[in-house]
Formats: sequence, C-alpha cells, structure tokens
Amino acid sequence: MTNRKGIILAGGSGTRLFPITIGVSKQLLPIYDKPMIYYPISVLMLAGIREIAIITTPHDQDQFKRALGNGNDWGLNFTYIQQPSPDGLAQAYLLAEEFLDGAPSALILGDNVFFGHGLPEILAAADRRERGGTVFGYRVSDPNRYGVVGYDAQGRVTEIIEKPENPPSNYAVTGLYFLDETAPERARKVEPSPRGELEIVDLLRSYLDEGELDVQQMGRGYAWLDTGTHGSLLDAGNFVRTLSERQGQQVGCPEEVAFNKGWVSREKLDELASRYKKTNYGAYLSEIRKGS
Ligand code: G1P
Repeated sequence: MTNRKGIILAGGSGTRLFPITIGVSKQLLPIYDKPMIYYPISVLMLAGIREIAIITTPHDQDQFKRALGNGNDWGLNFTYIQQPSPDGLAQAYLLAEEFLDGAPSALILGDNVFFGHGLPEILAAADRRERGGTVFGYRVSDPNRYGVVGYDAQGRVTEIIEKPENPPSNYAVTGLYFLDETAPERARKVEPSPRGELEIVDLLRSYLDEGELDVQQMGRGYAWLDTGTHGSLLDAGNFVRTLSERQGQQVGCPEEVAFNKGWVSREKLDELASRYKKTNYGAYLSEIRKGS
C-alpha cells in the first residue's frame, strides 16, 4: 500500500450513446444492477485506494454527487472536479494536480469495466511500482478503436499509438493507468493532437521514451468490457447478470470491497442493506454481512 490516489474520469458528452445520454451521464447508466461508475470505483478500492477524485462535466456534477455522495458510506473520500470541456484524457492530470498534491495516482476511465480472478494481485503489483508507470495491454479483435501497443521482435514495447488505421498489434491499452507523481508535470508538456486533445498516449510516450513504462498484459482470463455502443452496453449488463446470478456473487460491488477491507463496520453494512431492501442487491449485502 502506497499513498496513491485515484482519479475517475467521467466527463464527455456520450455522443456515441445518444439519445440515452442526452439526459443522463454515460457513467451513470446501468450495467445490469448498478451504475457503470461503481465498477471503476471498485477497481480503485481493490487497489487499496480511498482518496478518489471524480472528474465530470460541470453540467453533470450534481447527478454524480446525488448518486455517490461523499464516499464515506464506503469508507472513501470523494473529491469532485469539473472538466469544463473534454480536451483529452491527459487533461485529467492537470485538473487533478492540486488534489494529487504530489502523490502517485491510478487513473481509471469511468466507463471501463474489468473483471478477473487475479485482479487484486495485478493491481497490487502496479501500485508497488514507485517510479514510472504501469498500464495494461488487452487483446481485442478491433484494436483500431483504442490506444494500441507496438512490440519489437523481442517482445519489447516500442510504441503506443492512438486509434491507428493499421494497428501494430491486437493489444489495446486499457483505461487504467498507474503513474508516478511526475504525471501532472509531464501532462503540462503534452501538445494538443491534430484532433485538438491532450492524448493519454502522448503522456505515456514520455514514460516509454525514458524506459519507465511497464505494459502488463492482462490475459485471456480477464474481462475488459466495452460499454461504448448500445449493443456492447447491453452485452456488458448481460455478462454481469450471467456471472453474478450463476455464482451468487457480485461483480463491482463497492460495499462488499469496503466491508472485506475492514473500511466499514457490520452496522454500516446493515444500514446500506436496509436502504436497498427491495432489491437483490440489498439482499446480497445482508448475506455478506452474515459472512456467508
Ligand atoms: C481512450 C484512450 C485509448 C484507450 C481507451 C480505453 O479512448 O484514448 O488510448 O485505449 O480510452 O478505453 P476513448 O475511449 O476515449 O476513445
């Protein structure tokens, strides 16, 4: 455990999910039984992170505050930051610089859903790396939609390119970035790309050029789900439903992570369970409270 802080980037206008996202932020849409942002919050929690900045558009900030509060129910502390205009992912480090106050960070995109048995271990390993950064490469069939990793013949990472027409590999960089405390300083040096954005891949390249970027492969046993289209959003919900109903175990449940980590008491869990008593979610919280 380090003093690493978390950042969730939940800005953007969600145009690819119109008309759903006209009235509600993408990251608050349901993935089966809970808002999308619960999943990235749970990932940061699994990494042991309790100080989290949530970056949203000015317009959507109130919705997020209503949905999530100050984080104390889950043993967390949320700081809300506004992103006046969506000028690229690397901008998150500029907006969060004061919040980070010299600490290393884990940035996760508010629409990225991860699932996998070994997740806590790979998160802990990334957290332990004090200098430089760690990102995750995940094999996808459509790499040109993402930041893509290029490898040389020895398997060393040579480049990371944003949405290339001719992808150098099938490995996409997921939206989870563990970077050291130099990230805001490096982000300030990033120039806007031709599409006018401060690209995360340019920030990553500054680490890569110094030999300070570790690209861990997230293997086939993990799910990194797409939520970027109407169909994939539904598929993600069905995936979570299938898994959680079959196993009787939740996916991306912040209350459960908080309880398992000893960040909230049984009494608190009781209170949360009774708040949701009309749902299976509430029943689940009652179950874990009993330690079953
Ligand atoms: C962003 C990043 C891209 C990354 C992806 C992961 O793309 O720019 O490098 O692979 O997130 O979700 P976006 O989804 O904003 O187009």
